[in-house]
Amino acid sequence: PQKSRVTVVGSGNWGSVAAKLIASNTINFNSFHDEVRMWVFEETLPSGEKLSEVINRTNENVKYLPGIKLGQNVVADPDLEHAVKDANMLVFVTPHQFMEGICKRLVGKIRKDAQAISLIKGMEVKREGPCMISTLISEILGINCCVLCGANIANEIAVEKFSEATVGYRENKEIAEKWVRLFNTPYFMVSSVQDVEGVELCGTLKNVVALAAGFVDGLDMGNNTKAAIMRIGLREMKAFSKLLFPSVKDNTFFESCGVADLITTCLGGRNRKCADAFARNGGKRSFDELEAEMLQGQKLQGVSTAKEVYEVLSHRGLLQLFPLFSTVHEICSGRLAPSAIVEYTEHSARLP
Ligand code: NAD
Ligand code: 13P
Repeated sequence: PQKSRVTVVGSGNWGSVAAKLIASNTINFNSFHDEVRMWVFEETLPSGEKLSEVINRTNENVKYLPGIKLGQNVVADPDLEHAVKDANMLVFVTPHQFMEGICKRLVGKIRKDAQAISLIKGMEVKREGPCMISTLISEILGINCCVLCGANIANEIAVEKFSEATVGYRENKEIAEKWVRLFNTPYFMVSSVQDVEGVELCGTLKNVVALAAGFVDGLDMGNNTKAAIMRIGLREMKAFSKLLFPSVKDNTFFESCGVADLITTCLGGRNRKCADAFARNGGKRSFDELEAEMLQGQKLQGVSTAKEVYEVLSHRGLLQLFPLFSTVHEICSGRLAPSAIVEYTEHSARLP
């Protein structure tokens, strides 16, 4: 049988770690070509050098994952079409807001037998309603798309600290198993569930809860309040997921992609960190400003997700049933003060 060729579309913080993980496996398994292509959204570094050239010279993503060797079989490629043309396994891992544009550029440029997986946390809201990123990929490119989410703070996996992850698949368990083989390592334990939407919605929605947790931290409200936010946030995650996709399974919320990702992101994620700073500044500095200053080019997903969730809920007349989700967006957009995050608890009883 033909060996599979893998391309990672994206090279941010998690994209670079994903390439490293994958490269450590392709080099060991005969079913994969050793080389892993990694598409780099090209930029010029302060030194005047191109990021992709520096990655290929030093084997490090000096901007988004400094200090970590990616593996000699990772090849950075700034040409999107060239990066994907030979691959039959496409791993999508960019901030979600760029995916629609990227997919449109890829139409007609990928192999007919390509399979995809999305590591992206986020969704798009169109006139027709919400669209998950894996669906966007499937529909624009006409290919099958699994998802992988979990309690996966990239910098911790980069130094090979143990974590788990969940692959969500639609019908074909064999394809899911191939993705599991590609990602699974002794320090990155991957399992699979037949619930694409559940896995992807967990990963997407926990970023909204993480903002709420960050507000609570910024207001110095303590652990009990933060735990309450996480509990009610999880309940809204489940209710919202089932509202969009009644097929979503309860058990998915107990996988790594569910409660574990919620916990790690509320403790140590970038959304939490920026929301903490937002609340400490009394909402006077915008998230765009804080993101640029605190994350050095990395991107938050929670603020736009909160807006997207709010649009869906307001369109359906359901805002009152989701006080945490709604309040987070109203705080992010400056309509409410960060301290409003606690008031939601009084209203949360409304949720069935
Ligand atoms: P990141 O936050 O590091 O984002 C920066 C990346 O965006 C860089 O590669 C940059 O080149 C790219 N970029 C900037 N402008 C662009 C444009 N106009 N077009 C295309 N690309 C552009 O990215 P990340 O951490 O790899 O996150 C990607 C996805 O993975 C997100 O959905 C995120 O939620 C998810 N995720 C991240 C982590 C983590 O710990 N970092 C963990 C799990 C999942
Ligand atoms: P942040 O984007 O908030 O850092 O969350 C990372 C993550 O998704 C961990 O699984």
